[in-house]
Amino acid sequence: MTRHFIAIDQLDDNTLSSIYSLATSPFDDETMKGQGVALIFERPSLRTRASSSSAVYELGGYATFFGDEEIGLDRRESAEDVARTISEMYSIAALRIRQHGVFARMREATNERLSLINLLSDASHPTQAIADVLTIADEFAGGDVTALAGLEVAYVGDATNVTRSLAVALLRLGVNVTVAAPEGYQLSVGGAEDPQAVDGPGALRLTDNAHEAVKGADVVYTDAWVSMGFEEETASRRFDLANFQVNVPLMSLAKEHAILMHCLPAHRGDEVTNEVLDSGQSRVWRQVFHRRSAMIGVLRWIKGES
Ligand code: CP
Ligand code: NVA
Repeated sequence: MTRHFIAIDQLDDNTLSSIYSLATSPFDDETMKGQGVALIFERPSLRTRASSSSAVYELGGYATFFGDEEIGLDRRESAEDVARTISEMYSIAALRIRQHGVFARMREATNERLSLINLLSDASHPTQAIADVLTIADEFAGGDVTALAGLEVAYVGDATNVTRSLAVALLRLGVNVTVAAPEGYQLSVGGAEDPQAVDGPGALRLTDNAHEAVKGADVVYTDAWVSMGFEEETASRRFDLANFQVNVPLMSLAKEHAILMHCLPAHRGDEVTNEVLDSGQSRVWRQVFHRRSAMIGVLRWIKGES
């Protein structure tokens, strides 16, 4: 059966456990020998493009990049026809897309002949979540993702696509997640990758008080106040989210050993200050390191390893 990696909540525990372990175990550099992966980006990227192309290369394959200006998804050509075309030449497509619903349309259009990997959509960022779990496991459990239960993660700021995938992945591992966001920026109910639909074992708490959320946290996580596609709202977002900046006074409420995480790119002086981002508590570069581990795990699983 064709394997897809579209959202964490579509994968069972065994699959996720395989992906975590395939991400960090020795691999065969001929796993993808001579095989291409189509990398389709409707939005800009540094880490995701770099980690995807290098992971494909490490596994012996090659990546071809397609930018939005070239393919014009649903403008120059329908998403269905893009998928049909790609499936004639590639068996895997990894996509960063504006609308999560495009994945279902592409699956249907290609009769499941093309494996799809989500490299960020409006609803989720699952490869980032895999990298983040690996980073937290390194920090608190010697790399063992099964030993994270009971940790406290506080997410502060705009509840984004990154928040959704991260929360789903952590709750499934028994990590307690608190999301602190002002009205209008909190996790919405329903839709793809919905943390509020996860039935434990971790507990999810929503609040509009950043201080309360961070008190006693092991991990403080934040993301951009202005995600891609929301640029026109920059001024109002800065105003609305001003009390949700991760700065030294906020970090001081967390546990002494607490770490700061951010998917990057960071907007220094908005959601996080330089003092915190560049401090000894910051693990953002370890997260970047694990973006490639995560892609290796996902690609090996797509190719049939478990
Ligand atoms: N974190 C992340 O996905 O970064 P890019 O947008 O640069 O790929
Ligand atoms: N929430 C951000 C994540 C970037 C990696 C965005 O969608 O722009």
